[in-house]
Amino acid sequence: MLKIAILGFGVVGGGVADVIDLNRESIEKRIGKKVDIKYILDLREFPDSPYKDRVVHDFETIAADKELDIAVEAMGGLHPAYDFTKRLLENGVSVVTSNKHVVAEKGAELLKTASEHGARYMFEASVGGGIPVLTPLRDSLAANGIDSIDGILNGTTNYILDQMIEYGKTFEEALKEAQQKGYAEADPTADVEGIDAARKICILNAIATGVSVSPDAICTKGITDIKLEDVRIASEAGYSVKLIGHADSENGKINISVEPKLVPFSDILSRVDGVYNAIKVKGNASDDVTFVGRGAGKMPTASAVVGDVIDIALFPDKANQEWEPADENALLPSEEKVGRYYIRVAEDEDEAGLAFGNVEILKSGSGECAFITEKVNKKMLDRGIRYFASEPLAVIAVKE
Ligand code: HSE
Repeated sequence: MLKIAILGFGVVGGGVADVIDLNRESIEKRIGKKVDIKYILDLREFPDSPYKDRVVHDFETIAADKELDIAVEAMGGLHPAYDFTKRLLENGVSVVTSNKHVVAEKGAELLKTASEHGARYMFEASVGGGIPVLTPLRDSLAANGIDSIDGILNGTTNYILDQMIEYGKTFEEALKEAQQKGYAEADPTADVEGIDAARKICILNAIATGVSVSPDAICTKGITDIKLEDVRIASEAGYSVKLIGHADSENGKINISVEPKLVPFSDILSRVDGVYNAIKVKGNASDDVTFVGRGAGKMPTASAVVGDVIDIALFPDKANQEWEPADENALLPSEEKVGRYYIRVAEDEDEAGLAFGNVEILKSGSGECAFITEKVNKKMLDRGIRYFASEPLAVIAVKE
């Protein structure tokens, strides 16, 4: 018998029970054991659930059970999810989670704790929802040096951008729908400000390099400043606006960011819409490999969680990958980053040329001009922007 506890019976925790029920026969056949959801930890009661008699309110009941094999942490938030995970791993209980907040902030420590106590710590669902990406990146692409990772990593913002562009919905309407569909975080600030995507790109980078960077240390920008007008101008010029997480290494330094970018239609990421996520990994042997699927939602996320549960049931002694925390000089300073930028100003196109030299004009007229610069560094960008009499109406990076 495989004895499981589910910590947190919300969207993901409920989905885990549903996936186990939906596919119980094939799952049990695969692992050669019955699956027993022995505990559900939540503050609430669930009188209508078939698992109502498994609900406990005190974590200590679960921590004291010496027979427990695996805990699924689906609580969200850093505390007490981190504290419960640590306790369970110290007890030798393997933990599976979808909680990117805990993995991004505490993953290095928890992987070490798991290894020290003969347990496994797995978190496929923490990035890309139902998309299998962490395991293939860690295992199937292990022969590669990873040159770069680019991803649409947040379903809520991708859904919002898509609904605004395709259906002319307001930001607020689209966000409300994303919340109703169970895509958004409890506090959607983490989605729209890029914090959720920052956690995910840091996890991807750690898997690819073995070096864990805190999301607080990277340049993170969300979608709240994106205006429909710029999305339309970009679209007419052959670009989609997407929130992109990027990681690579430049001059031996780690370069990680999350920001909205103009993505050319020729790039597969420009065509990933709605709640779908996509992660494009460039390996130095494999070349580009792209993973696409539902990045949020109850059943897709639960699919990835239960996949980890099955893996632990089959291979309880498999080694954890361990991560080194990045030292403070490991990150590329923002002044050294170079790239092209989309800029819209309340000036005519001659002024754009005088400020930035060679520019590609996307739209000009009615006292406004939208253009794309050549590759510039931060200093050149700031100098060009200062040339204009007023603040630009928009500045958005262009994905290379
Ligand atoms: N809020 C997240 C998203 C959920 O919208 O992508 C999945 O991590």
